[in-house]
Amino acid sequence: MTMATAPLIPAMGEYNVSNHLLGDPAGLKAAWDRDGYWFFRDVLDRQAIAELRQIYMDYLSELGVADPQDPEARYNGADLSAMPKMVNETAMNERRVDRVLHRDPRIASFFRRLFGCDPFWVPFTVHRQVPPAQDRCARRLEFIHQDGTYNDGLDFLICWIPLAEITPDVGGLALVEGVHRRGSLHRKDGMRILPIAEEDIEVERWRSTHYRPGDVLLMDLNTPHSGITNHSDRFRLSVDTRIMPSNGNVPVVGAIDAVGAEGVTIGGRALRFDATSFVRGLRGDQMPLADVPGRYRIGQEVIAAVTGDIVRNMRPIQ
Ligand SMILES: [Fe+2]
Repeated sequence: MTMATAPLIPAMGEYNVSNHLLGDPAGLKAAWDRDGYWFFRDVLDRQAIAELRQIYMDYLSELGVADPQDPEARYNGADLSAMPKMVNETAMNERRVDRVLHRDPRIASFFRRLFGCDPFWVPFTVHRQVPPAQDRCARRLEFIHQDGTYNDGLDFLICWIPLAEITPDVGGLALVEGVHRRGSLHRKDGMRILPIAEEDIEVERWRSTHYRPGDVLLMDLNTPHSGITNHSDRFRLSVDTRIMPSNGNVPVVGAIDAVGAEGVTIGGRALRFDATSFVRGLRGDQMPLADVPGRYRIGQEVIAAVTGDIVRNMRPIQ
């Protein structure tokens, strides 16, 4: 006798697609205010996306886990232990693959149309090459969180780009629609920030889709979201980066010239800390300002969100 098994993920509604709002700033703003995201279908240059995907495939080939010419990016079953466990410690990040994306005029042209000005790419990127999950019995939402809880003061948009077809069995990304104005949904255990509990989310607000190359999802920093575990035989290939209009309050990005407990000089620009400055360690933790000179060094590349010359948030570039 077979037992009916409960689904391992909430039923996902489809995104509101915003293609028809391009060129309509008021309509775009209304959609963002209502939903906390924009999803655009087939707007990024597919050749540019294919070139980026090939860099990922070459990396998987170097690790011996996939054939670089396989259009399906199937996992060949070889040992995965050489793949870094931390998503921000992959060789892709060390090689600064994101600069390929950030400097590509074919990609920039879409965002110029969207923002009405050049995009400003924040050099904080995570490359994902997610292998098929071993455990097919666990709940499939990996880590429900709001990036804003860890990045207070940064005004950028989360920009998530599928580099290949991502069907529901491959997983991808799911988000919670229309709750980005409700503040942090994370519970705390003392100073420790806990992941958002699945039972704290209204089940009918979950959204995801069948992603294809050329699609792009832009999210508010306070839109809760999660990866979905991969139940296919393929790698899930996606890039998670940050963007904002260049006419906004863009962060200071560069190497540290001098650093102390009172302030920091980045690329020749002198900035101060005050009691509200959120200075991050490498794992997203907030550090006391007295610890900053010991944890940040001259020459290190950082991103600092500022108001005037006051640092609101500072973090290392991985
Ligand atoms: Fe995130």
